[in-house]
Amino acid sequence: MEDKALIEATALHVEKLFAGEGSGHDWWHIRRVWKTALAIGEQEGANLTVVQLGALLHDIADWKFHDGNEEAGPQAAMAWLRSLNTPEEIISEVAAIVKEVTFKGAGVENTPSSLEGKVVQDADRLDAIGAIGIGRAFAYGGHKGREMYNPGILPALHDSFEAYKKNQAPTLNHFYEKLFLLKDRMHTQAGKKMAEKRHAHMQAFVQQFLAEWHSEETPPS
Ligand code: ADP
Ligand code: NI
Repeated sequence: MEDKALIEATALHVEKLFAGEGSGHDWWHIRRVWKTALAIGEQEGANLTVVQLGALLHDIADWKFHDGNEEAGPQAAMAWLRSLNTPEEIISEVAAIVKEVTFKGAGVENTPSSLEGKVVQDADRLDAIGAIGIGRAFAYGGHKGREMYNPGILPALHDSFEAYKKNQAPTLNHFYEKLFLLKDRMHTQAGKKMAEKRHAHMQAFVQQFLAEWHSEETPPS
Protein backbone atom coordinates (compact mmCIF):
# COMPACT_ATOMS: atom_id res chain seq x y z
CA MET A 1 0.00 0.00 0.00
CA GLU A 2 1.11 3.56 -0.69
CA ASP A 3 1.94 5.58 2.40
CA LYS A 4 -1.06 7.82 1.87
CA ALA A 5 -3.45 4.86 1.58
CA LEU A 6 -1.87 3.28 4.66
CA ILE A 7 -2.47 6.40 6.70
CA GLU A 8 -6.02 6.84 5.43
CA ALA A 9 -6.90 3.22 6.17
CA THR A 10 -5.40 3.53 9.64
CA ALA A 11 -7.28 6.76 10.35
CA LEU A 12 -10.55 5.10 9.37
CA HIS A 13 -9.79 2.02 11.49
CA VAL A 14 -8.95 4.09 14.56
CA GLU A 15 -11.94 6.39 14.07
CA LYS A 16 -14.21 3.33 14.14
CA LEU A 17 -12.48 1.87 17.20
CA PHE A 18 -12.75 5.08 19.20
CA ALA A 19 -16.24 6.18 18.15
CA GLY A 20 -18.21 7.23 21.20
CA GLU A 21 -15.31 6.92 23.67
CA GLY A 22 -16.00 9.61 26.30
CA SER A 23 -13.12 9.31 28.75
CA GLY A 24 -10.64 11.60 27.02
CA HIS A 25 -9.43 9.13 24.43
CA ASP A 26 -12.00 9.87 21.82
CA TRP A 27 -11.35 10.02 18.09
CA TRP A 28 -11.11 13.81 18.21
CA HIS A 29 -8.16 13.56 20.60
CA ILE A 30 -6.44 11.16 18.21
CA ARG A 31 -7.26 13.38 15.26
CA ARG A 32 -5.86 16.49 16.99
CA VAL A 33 -2.68 14.64 17.95
CA TRP A 34 -2.34 13.39 14.39
CA LYS A 35 -2.63 16.91 12.90
CA THR A 36 -0.35 18.49 15.52
CA ALA A 37 2.23 15.73 15.13
CA LEU A 38 2.20 16.20 11.37
CA ALA A 39 2.79 19.96 11.74
CA ILE A 40 5.62 19.46 14.26
CA GLY A 41 7.08 16.58 12.25
CA GLU A 42 7.25 18.73 9.12
CA GLN A 43 9.24 21.37 10.98
CA GLU A 44 11.54 18.79 12.54
CA GLY A 45 12.24 16.92 9.32
CA ALA A 46 10.87 13.67 10.74
CA ASN A 47 9.63 10.68 8.75
CA LEU A 48 6.02 11.73 8.29
CA THR A 49 4.66 8.26 7.59
CA VAL A 50 6.02 6.97 10.89
CA VAL A 51 4.89 10.12 12.71
CA GLN A 52 1.36 9.89 11.36
CA LEU A 53 0.94 6.16 11.98
CA GLY A 54 2.42 6.56 15.45
CA ALA A 55 0.05 9.42 16.27
CA LEU A 56 -2.99 7.57 14.94
CA LEU A 57 -2.15 4.41 16.89
CA HIS A 58 -0.63 5.94 20.03
CA ASP A 59 -3.63 5.33 22.28
CA ILE A 60 -4.85 2.15 20.60
CA ALA A 61 -4.79 0.19 23.81
CA ASP A 62 -3.89 2.51 26.63
CA TRP A 63 -2.01 0.51 29.25
CA LYS A 64 -4.23 1.89 32.04
CA PHE A 65 -7.22 0.10 30.59
CA HIS A 66 -5.37 -3.17 30.10
CA ASP A 67 -4.30 -4.23 33.59
CA GLY A 68 -0.95 -2.53 33.24
CA ASN A 69 -0.03 -4.64 30.22
CA GLU A 70 2.33 -2.36 28.33
CA GLU A 71 2.45 -4.66 25.33
CA ALA A 72 -1.27 -4.45 24.50
CA GLY A 73 -0.90 -1.20 22.52
CA PRO A 74 2.20 -2.10 20.51
CA GLN A 75 0.76 -5.53 19.74
CA ALA A 76 -2.55 -4.14 18.52
CA ALA A 77 -0.67 -1.62 16.38
CA MET A 78 1.60 -4.31 14.91
CA ALA A 79 -1.29 -6.65 14.13
CA TRP A 80 -3.15 -3.87 12.36
CA LEU A 81 -0.16 -2.73 10.30
CA ARG A 82 0.74 -6.32 9.37
CA SER A 83 -2.78 -6.85 8.09
CA LEU A 84 -2.04 -4.04 5.61
CA ASN A 85 1.34 -5.53 4.60
CA THR A 86 3.23 -2.54 5.97
CA PRO A 87 7.03 -2.88 5.66
CA GLU A 88 8.48 -4.43 8.84
CA GLU A 89 10.79 -1.49 9.36
CA ILE A 90 7.89 0.92 9.64
CA ILE A 91 5.95 -1.50 11.84
CA SER A 92 8.73 -1.73 14.38
CA GLU A 93 9.26 2.04 14.48
CA VAL A 94 5.55 2.66 14.99
CA ALA A 95 5.25 -0.06 17.63
CA ALA A 96 8.13 1.54 19.56
CA ILE A 97 6.32 4.88 19.49
CA VAL A 98 3.09 3.35 20.77
CA LYS A 99 5.07 1.81 23.61
CA GLU A 100 7.02 4.91 24.51
CA VAL A 101 4.68 7.90 24.27
CA THR A 102 2.59 7.59 27.39
CA PHE A 103 3.52 9.82 30.31
CA LYS A 104 3.37 7.64 33.39
CA GLY A 105 3.38 10.15 36.22
CA ALA A 106 5.14 13.19 37.63
CA GLY A 107 8.29 11.36 38.68
CA VAL A 108 8.83 9.19 35.63
CA GLU A 109 10.60 10.55 32.61
CA ASN A 110 10.20 8.47 29.50
CA THR A 111 11.83 10.03 26.50
CA PRO A 112 11.04 8.24 23.24
CA SER A 113 14.09 6.85 21.48
CA SER A 114 13.31 8.22 18.00
CA LEU A 115 12.70 11.71 16.67
CA GLU A 116 9.31 10.51 15.42
CA GLY A 117 8.41 9.30 18.92
CA LYS A 118 9.40 12.65 20.38
CA VAL A 119 7.19 14.42 17.86
CA VAL A 120 4.20 12.22 18.73
CA GLN A 121 4.77 12.58 22.47
CA ASP A 122 4.98 16.37 22.14
CA ALA A 123 1.72 16.41 20.17
CA ASP A 124 0.02 14.15 22.72
CA ARG A 125 1.18 16.34 25.60
CA LEU A 126 0.09 19.51 23.80
CA ASP A 127 -3.42 18.08 23.69
CA ALA A 128 -3.39 17.81 27.49
CA ILE A 129 -2.65 21.51 28.01
CA GLY A 130 -4.17 24.82 26.93
CA ALA A 131 -7.89 25.35 26.42
CA ILE A 132 -8.41 21.81 25.16
CA GLY A 133 -6.37 20.40 28.01
CA ILE A 134 -8.59 22.25 30.48
CA GLY A 135 -11.69 20.86 28.80
CA ARG A 136 -10.29 17.35 28.81
CA ALA A 137 -9.26 17.51 32.44
CA PHE A 138 -12.75 18.49 33.61
CA ALA A 139 -14.38 15.99 31.27
CA TYR A 140 -12.16 13.26 32.73
CA GLY A 141 -12.83 14.42 36.31
CA GLY A 142 -16.58 14.43 35.68
CA HIS A 143 -16.36 10.98 34.15
CA LYS A 144 -14.70 9.80 37.39
CA GLY A 145 -17.19 11.67 39.60
CA ARG A 146 -14.56 13.97 41.04
CA GLU A 147 -14.94 17.43 42.52
CA MET A 148 -13.64 20.33 40.41
CA TYR A 149 -11.82 21.78 43.38
CA ASN A 150 -11.63 21.35 47.13
CA PRO A 151 -9.73 23.93 49.20
CA GLY A 152 -9.15 21.27 51.86
CA ILE A 153 -7.35 18.87 49.53
CA LEU A 154 -4.16 20.48 48.34
CA PRO A 155 -2.13 19.16 45.44
CA ALA A 156 0.48 16.72 46.67
CA LEU A 157 2.35 13.66 45.58
CA HIS A 158 0.26 10.62 44.92
CA ASP A 159 0.89 8.36 47.88
CA SER A 160 0.91 11.02 50.53
CA PHE A 161 -2.81 11.57 50.66
CA GLU A 162 -5.95 9.60 51.43
CA ALA A 163 -7.83 11.30 48.61
CA TYR A 164 -5.26 10.16 46.10
CA LYS A 165 -5.36 6.63 47.41
CA LYS A 166 -9.10 6.65 46.89
CA ASN A 167 -8.53 8.25 43.51
CA GLN A 168 -10.73 11.18 44.44
CA ALA A 169 -8.35 14.11 44.17
CA PRO A 170 -10.15 17.12 42.72
CA THR A 171 -9.52 17.94 39.09
CA LEU A 172 -7.77 21.24 39.83
CA ASN A 173 -5.01 19.29 41.56
CA HIS A 174 -4.25 17.55 38.30
CA PHE A 175 -3.03 20.87 36.91
CA TYR A 176 -0.32 21.08 39.58
CA GLU A 177 0.47 17.38 39.49
CA LYS A 178 0.86 17.00 35.77
CA LEU A 179 -0.45 19.64 33.38
CA PHE A 180 1.79 22.50 34.56
CA LEU A 181 4.81 20.18 34.29
CA LEU A 182 4.37 19.31 30.64
CA LYS A 183 5.72 22.55 29.17
CA ASP A 184 9.21 21.72 30.42
CA ARG A 185 9.07 18.18 29.08
CA MET A 186 8.70 19.03 25.41
CA HIS A 187 11.37 17.66 23.11
CA THR A 188 11.04 19.63 19.88
CA GLN A 189 11.46 23.35 19.25
CA ALA A 190 8.08 23.65 17.54
CA GLY A 191 6.44 21.78 20.41
CA LYS A 192 8.07 24.00 23.02
CA LYS A 193 6.76 27.14 21.37
CA MET A 194 3.22 25.81 21.22
CA ALA A 195 3.42 24.56 24.79
CA GLU A 196 4.45 27.94 26.16
CA LYS A 197 1.40 29.60 24.68
CA ARG A 198 -0.95 26.89 25.92
CA HIS A 199 0.68 26.88 29.34
CA ALA A 200 0.04 30.62 29.72
CA HIS A 201 -3.66 30.12 28.90
CA MET A 202 -3.90 27.38 31.48
CA GLN A 203 -2.22 29.49 34.16
CA ALA A 204 -4.58 32.38 33.49
CA PHE A 205 -7.52 30.00 33.74
CA VAL A 206 -6.48 28.53 37.08
CA GLN A 207 -5.74 31.97 38.48
CA GLN A 208 -9.18 33.21 37.47
CA PHE A 209 -10.85 30.01 38.75
CA LEU A 210 -9.28 30.46 42.18
CA ALA A 211 -10.06 34.17 42.25
CA GLU A 212 -13.73 33.46 41.55
CA TRP A 213 -13.86 30.63 44.07
CA HIS A 214 -12.29 32.64 46.83
CA SER A 215 -14.22 35.81 45.94
CA GLU A 216 -11.10 37.76 45.23
CA GLU A 217 -12.39 39.22 42.02
CA THR A 218 -12.42 42.95 41.59
CA PRO A 219 -16.06 43.95 41.04
CA PRO A 220 -16.62 45.57 37.63
CA SER A 221 -16.64 49.33 37.93
P1 ADP B 1 -2.87 10.36 27.17
O1 ADP B 1 -2.85 8.87 27.27
O2 ADP B 1 -3.66 10.87 26.00
O3 ADP B 1 -1.52 10.97 27.22
P2 ADP B 1 -4.08 10.32 29.81
O4 ADP B 1 -4.65 8.99 29.65
O5 ADP B 1 -3.02 10.49 30.84
O6 ADP B 1 -3.58 10.95 28.44
O7 ADP B 1 -5.22 11.33 30.11
C1 ADP B 1 -6.26 11.60 29.19
C2 ADP B 1 -6.83 12.97 29.52
O8 ADP B 1 -7.41 12.92 30.82
C3 ADP B 1 -5.78 14.08 29.58
O9 ADP B 1 -6.31 15.27 29.06
C4 ADP B 1 -5.47 14.21 31.05
O10 ADP B 1 -5.06 15.49 31.44
C5 ADP B 1 -6.80 13.86 31.66
N1 ADP B 1 -6.58 13.28 32.98
C6 ADP B 1 -5.86 12.19 33.31
N2 ADP B 1 -5.83 12.00 34.65
C7 ADP B 1 -6.57 13.01 35.17
C8 ADP B 1 -6.93 13.41 36.49
N3 ADP B 1 -6.53 12.74 37.56
N4 ADP B 1 -7.71 14.52 36.63
C9 ADP B 1 -8.11 15.22 35.56
N5 ADP B 1 -7.80 14.91 34.30
C10 ADP B 1 -7.05 13.83 34.09
NI1 NI C 1 -3.22 10.43 23.79
